[in-house]
Amino acid sequence: ESLYVVRTDGRVSDVVSSTCTHLGCPVRPAGQFFRCPCHGSTYTLDGQVVRGPAPKSLPRYELTVTEEYLEIRLS
Ligand code: FES
Repeated sequence: ESLYVVRTDGRVSDVVSSTCTHLGCPVRPAGQFFRCPCHGSTYTLDGQVVRGPAPKSLPRYELTVTEEYLEIRLS
């Protein structure tokens, strides 16, 4: 499993799982979306479903950004 660290306007904005909530294929970036190659589910860059069959959003991880580091809380 991997995570995407999303940048918006050059700043880190979100961390989301790359695992599709339908049947677990890895989603891939596609412009302003993530798209699942298996059955076509599409998510916004902050993980919301815009096209099924995915039943729910990509899990998001809490993020702290400072000048020196990023902290990503995995649970
Ligand atoms: Fe992603 Fe089915 S596994 S749409």
